[in-house]
Amino acid sequence: MSIIFLNGAYVRAEDARISPFDRGFTFGEGVYEVCIAVNGNFVDAPAHLARLDRSLAACGITAPPERVELHSIMKELLQKNDVRTGLVYLQVTSGVSPRNFTTCPEGRSTLMMLAQASDFEQTPAFRDGIHVQLQEDIRWLHRDIKTTMLLPQVMAKRNALANGVSDTLFYDALGITEGASSNVFLVDGHGTLVTRPLSNLLLAGCTRERILELAQEAGFVIDERPIQRAELATAAECFVTSATYLVAPVLSVDGRAIADGKAGQVTRRLQHLYCAYIAGEGRACADI
Ligand code: PDD
Repeated sequence: MSIIFLNGAYVRAEDARISPFDRGFTFGEGVYEVCIAVNGNFVDAPAHLARLDRSLAACGITAPPERVELHSIMKELLQKNDVRTGLVYLQVTSGVSPRNFTTCPEGRSTLMMLAQASDFEQTPAFRDGIHVQLQEDIRWLHRDIKTTMLLPQVMAKRNALANGVSDTLFYDALGITEGASSNVFLVDGHGTLVTRPLSNLLLAGCTRERILELAQEAGFVIDERPIQRAELATAAECFVTSATYLVAPVLSVDGRAIADGKAGQVTRRLQHLYCAYIAGEGRACADI
């Protein structure tokens, strides 16, 4: 039985009540985070909570009253659900108001958190890699905000499945923006890691940031610039990063194999470095 955290209380999921006038429901006025835990300890929680603050500020949503204790609530939620390795999903909406575009809620913002067990190092995407398709990025121009308005992503992922692949990468006039729920990296013929620089046009992934740091420490050359669609045809390797993918090899794009169609050496090395990091992060944070 799943226990969630809703507006100050731990409740059974089936007993939880959210108002039909919640603006997350009527207007999609909400933001979220997905933070994974390994052996009971969160990976890069401060970065996720900092991004939550940025998303809240960008949307003008008041932080929930539990903001200062979020990390310990996340931890307790894991324990109450008996999850050691998995994720916490955290959503904040602006709260309840009559259905009117501009009315500001009088009460508190809504905070909902749930925990799910999952071993991300054992997924087929992580172990074997994924096949993807390309689609024009039809989303809005504030993709740096981690909003719950995810219809374009849901449609793109469903369309990928209908086309026999597992995910969609988006592109705009400058090149690849990001995956439907991940950031995209390419390894060029010289072994240089290429990924799009941060801007309002993509999410500042916490995994992206960590991978860049680990890659730099390991001596890789990094070039933050847009990846052209045509470059995928000649890329040595390609991979995506996210809290739940960790680092997942991309094996083909629109039916064309990347290099020999197998996970590349650089990708495997970065998977290894990241897994060592998240295991160590768990130990380092054991007392939080
Ligand atoms: N999504 N870009 C988009 C559009 C995303 O939705 C995500 C994460 C990322 C990667 O961010 P991070 O490394 O901080 O997880 C990039 C989460 C996992 C989700 O929506 O489930």
